[in-house]
Amino acid sequence: MTLLEIRSVGDPVLRERAAEVSPDELRSPEFQRLIDDMIETMRAAGGAGLAANQVGERRRVAVIEVRDNPRYPYKPPIPLTVIVNPTLTPVDDETFAINEGCLSVPDLRGELPRHVSVRVDYLDRDGEAHSEVQRGLTAGTFQHEVDHLDGILFLDRVEDPTTFTTWKQFDRYHRDAFVARARALVERVGA
Ligand code: NI
Repeated sequence: MTLLEIRSVGDPVLRERAAEVSPDELRSPEFQRLIDDMIETMRAAGGAGLAANQVGERRRVAVIEVRDNPRYPYKPPIPLTVIVNPTLTPVDDETFAINEGCLSVPDLRGELPRHVSVRVDYLDRDGEAHSEVQRGLTAGTFQHEVDHLDGILFLDRVEDPTTFTTWKQFDRYHRDAFVARARALVERVGA
């Protein structure tokens, strides 16, 4: 497996809509290797997810996994999930202000509204169709990754620019309050 270069904000590929993956392409050894390399790259970088645009590939595939993540220790675990051609549908109107960061936006975090419950339809790496409802912080992670595939960065959704912080200043001034709010959400909706 190969560690891929993670593109950062300013790279035009992050602003492009990634293209749907065909069944033949999904089955190909090249595409399966891309998925393996994305998983490896996400794990090595300590990300909760990684979308193909972030490694320069304009294809609708992202990988998501949370296991004792030092970047986001408050996030509930998410088993390794490969989402191909995902679509998101909000279940209702409820939103929650999540403080997010991104591997493609070095040393910056900010607060933005995410849907609390979303239906996610996608194919897995074997081409099997899935339809599931994700909630809470986990729903936020899915929304962040699908945004990447549409050329959207979390920066675009920050409504109050005064919430932008470096990671160090987040830890110093804002982390405790956010984690308390996030824990309450996780307790209420279970994710
Ligand atoms: Ni990101």
